[in-house]
Amino acid sequence: KMWPEAIPPHARHFPHLQWLIAFCFTIGLTECIPPKKESCVVRNGHADCSHMSLNEIPQNLSHNISSLDISHNRIVRIAHQCLKPYPELVRLDASFNSISKLDEKMCQVLPFLQTLNLEKNQLDPKTQDLSQCRNLVWLNVASNRLKLQQEPFAGLQNLKYLDISNNNLKSAALSMKPHVLSLKYLGLNHNNINILKTDDFNFLKQSSLLVLNFSSVPLTTVEPGSFKNIASLRTLVLDGSKIGTPVLSKLCMELSGSNIEALSLKNMELASLANNTFTGLTNTNLSSIDLSGNELTKIEIGSFLGLHKLQSLIMSENKIKQLKQGTFEGLQSLKMLNLTRALDSKLASHPSIENFAFQHLGALETLILQSSAVGEITQHTFSGLTSLQDLDLSWTKMSSSKVITNLTFASLAASPLGKLNLKATALRQIHLGAFTFLTNLTELHLESNYITQTLAGDEFEGLGQLEELYLFKNDKITLTSSSFFHVPNLKILMLGKSLIGTTLDMEPSPFKPLSKLTILDLSNNNMANIQETLLEGLVNLKVLYLQHNNFARLWKSANVGGPVMFLKFTPNLVKLELDSNGFDEIPENGLKGLFNLTQLSLSSNLLNSLKDGIFDDLHSLQELKLQKNMITSVTPQVFRTPVTNLKVLIMDKNPFDCTCESIFWFLTWLNSTNASVPDRGQEYICNTPLSYFNKSIMKFDTFSCKDTTPFQALYILSSTTVLLLMVTALVVRFQGWRIQFYCNILISRTLGLSDAKAEEGRSFEFDAYVIHAEQDAGWVERRMLPLEKQQCRFCLEDRDSVPGMSQLESIVDNMRRSRKILFVVTDNLLNDPQCRRFTVHHALHQVIEDSRDSVILVLLEDIHDYKLSRTLFLRRGMLRPCCVVDWPPQRERVPAFHQNLLIALGKTNHWLQ
Ligand SMILES: *[C@@H]1O[C@H](CO)[C@@H](O)[C@H](O)[C@H]1NC(C)=O
Ligand SMILES: *[C@@H]1O[C@H](CO)[C@@H](O)[C@H](O)[C@H]1NC(C)=O
Ligand SMILES: *[C@@H]1O[C@H](CO)[C@@H](O)[C@H](O)[C@H]1NC(C)=O
Ligand SMILES: *[C@@H]1O[C@H](CO)[C@@H](O)[C@H](O)[C@H]1NC(C)=O
Ligand SMILES: *[C@@H]1O[C@H](CO)[C@@H](O)[C@H](O)[C@H]1NC(C)=O
Ligand SMILES: *[C@@H]1O[C@H](CO)[C@@H](O)[C@H](O)[C@H]1NC(C)=O
Ligand SMILES: *[C@@H]1O[C@H](CO)[C@@H](O)[C@H](O)[C@H]1NC(C)=O
Repeated sequence: KMWPEAIPPHARHFPHLQWLIAFCFTIGLTECIPPKKESCVVRNGHADCSHMSLNEIPQNLSHNISSLDISHNRIVRIAHQCLKPYPELVRLDASFNSISKLDEKMCQVLPFLQTLNLEKNQLDPKTQDLSQCRNLVWLNVASNRLKLQQEPFAGLQNLKYLDISNNNLKSAALSMKPHVLSLKYLGLNHNNINILKTDDFNFLKQSSLLVLNFSSVPLTTVEPGSFKNIASLRTLVLDGSKIGTPVLSKLCMELSGSNIEALSLKNMELASLANNTFTGLTNTNLSSIDLSGNELTKIEIGSFLGLHKLQSLIMSENKIKQLKQGTFEGLQSLKMLNLTRALDSKLASHPSIENFAFQHLGALETLILQSSAVGEITQHTFSGLTSLQDLDLSWTKMSSSKVITNLTFASLAASPLGKLNLKATALRQIHLGAFTFLTNLTELHLESNYITQTLAGDEFEGLGQLEELYLFKNDKITLTSSSFFHVPNLKILMLGKSLIGTTLDMEPSPFKPLSKLTILDLSNNNMANIQETLLEGLVNLKVLYLQHNNFARLWKSANVGGPVMFLKFTPNLVKLELDSNGFDEIPENGLKGLFNLTQLSLSSNLLNSLKDGIFDDLHSLQELKLQKNMITSVTPQVFRTPVTNLKVLIMDKNPFDCTCESIFWFLTWLNSTNASVPDRGQEYICNTPLSYFNKSIMKFDTFSCKDTTPFQALYILSSTTVLLLMVTALVVRFQGWRIQFYCNILISRTLGLSDAKAEEGRSFEFDAYVIHAEQDAGWVERRMLPLEKQQCRFCLEDRDSVPGMSQLESIVDNMRRSRKILFVVTDNLLNDPQCRRFTVHHALHQVIEDSRDSVILVLLEDIHDYKLSRTLFLRRGMLRPCCVVDWPPQRERVPAFHQNLLIALGKTNHWLQ
């Protein structure tokens, strides 16, 4: 940023390329050289013909190209005829060829040429004439053999950038006359200029040069007035010029009164700064000096005196022994002081930073002491830094006691410090109230130390503005419920690898006060037990790192009290890492409600069969990592929702089961998705079945899955048939009688065998024909005949048989004359052979012919249905419920029995009614 144009573009990449090519040639590895193109690549008006071993400029390119790259070829000469086809060229890159002669007419055929790169050719001193190239703005003739006897740049009125480095020039005087009026950048670096003469820059008299690159120029003498012609200079680069402090001092004297703003003095092997080195710069507007990479050991008091406007001082990579009270005197505007690896003191007796060393830097905002030998920090080390906002002490060896007390930063009480970096400073402990003075602190780095303590909370007293706290990689930090009581504005809290051997199994959770927290890192702590309420109140949490712990138990369904849903309080999570926790299951609601989650990482666990729908709330998921688990199948029931918006899926190294049910859907999805699935061809390997073992899942023959569709239909059909048959058989076995019974009724009805309708109107002589065993005659006489007097008439075989008729005829006749047939069912009846043989058969015939209502069963005993069907071929189920009447054992219920019997008798016969 500070040297915008100082470093020519070629210097940024080409040195590496040169090295690479040199390496390739010496080792003989031809593969290192960029592959040769077959033809030029023309795109958007730019033709790239580089690296083609061309001897000539190609003639068949499109005529309206504005840019042509013929670098890295074997072109010896640019003839103007060859460029004639491309009159609109604005840029021409012919670097890295063997061009020794330029055609005078080249610029005549290229009237619009603005940029010309001729770096690394063999242009020789005599023949060069660019005077026709009036529009040239940018010219690079670095690494040629120019000696500049003539006036090659005469006429280049518009030239702004000229790189003529590495041409073995002996003088900076490129011309005798003031030609190049517009020049802003002049690169004279890597030339052999020893003496800078008073008139050398005469040719720049009328231009206003801004940047002069004098890197690696072995100046020994600077004549007085040598910079007076380029007083407009803003940036002077002297990197790598080993000129020593006296010549530097002389050069600075010559810059006195100029417009110089930035001085780059890197890698100049400067060993010390004296109180007169920069005196010449006191009446300039110099705002930055870069002294990095020198060997400064001593900085004399008053070295920077007078540099009132200096804002940035970089002295990194030096070996300064001590910063004294007066070292920085005069730097009242300094805002940035970079002392990275700048202090190198091995003497403990000799503090490398004296008390009040920074007292003159009242405007300093950024102080970087990274990796410097800071030594003991006392109560006055940082006194006077009243504007300091950013203090970087990382990787320093701070103090022998390795403790931050309430005095360590007391000297910063008056500064608005916002950021303090104490990373890797071998800290062991933080005392109570250590940061009380840093009330404006927003960012505190304490990571990579050896802190071993229980955080009671008062360590962070006064840090009410703190937003970022980095505590990861410490020895053993134990948290309590009040640890973060004083830092309620925390947004980022990093505790990875610092809580090992401690526990978070406490109520209330230490994080409860942190309602603004957005990022929480608890990874690498090997913790096992947490409460469900650990993250309660963290409604703003977006990023949660829990990887490398031991939380598997929390999500087990076998866990006592059920799975612990520790994510239920953090609905706004965007990124969640749960890798390497030993999880073998995810409970149904484990990831519920995480609608905004875009990144989920569950790799290196033991997950195998995932429950359907566990990812169903993850509509926003963009990145899913499940590699190194035990997943065998990828089914749509689990994965359809999370993969809908997915951009990256990483699921390799799982023991996939290569069968149609397990991965066919996955393969179909892979085939059609735009998401990136790295290594899908190599790392997704089948484990089962044997025929696919150790083969890529992409080799799975999905055709076989499509083929099974007809077989599937067949399978369903045949299994349904078998099932139906079984059901039918069972029904027939156990309910066959019912079917048969209704069948008979139906058949007799439809074929008109019955004349029930007609009989309905017919008047009967008896209400019921009573069938009973001989032994039950007494019961009939006592219990049933009394009913005759009132409402009905029974037909009893013994009493009412027609005299003279045979017994059989009489039975048939009597039955015909009765409306109903009444069985008095007892064991006696069932055992009576006569009863079974004829009476019952005939009765049954009547039942089927008429209707089931014509039979009444009076059960005197508890008879099993099975026995009933075996002997009477009747079942209770064949009759209406009211036609089955039980004889009650209790005397008082006899009237009710009579009532039931009368109801059964009074019913109409027609069963369909
Ligand atoms: C130009 O001609 C060369 C052969 O002379 C051929 O290889 C190349 O493809 C041509 N390029 C274009 C852009 O037509
Ligand atoms: C510079 O230092 C020398 C001794 O090294 C001293 O004599 C001289 O007075 C100092 N000059 C200033 C301006 O401090
Ligand atoms: C400070 O110097 C170091 C080493 O040169 C460099 O890496 C770092 O970027 C510098 N820091 C700033 C803020 O310029
Ligand atoms: C610093 O802490 C000590 C006890 O460790 C206490 O006596 C002293 O008052 C504290 N100083 C300040 C300025 O808070
Ligand atoms: C802290 O910042 C506030 C504004 O955020 C400012 O008013 C206050 O002066 C600062 N404190 C110090 C010690 O500079
Ligand atoms: C998710 O993000 C949207 C906006 O990106 C926000 O409105 C919503 O509150 C967030 N949280 C949930 C749970 O949807
Ligand atoms: C993937 O797509 C190709 C071509 O579109 C097709 O031939 C192949 O069968 C498809 N594979 C699967 C698993 O759908």
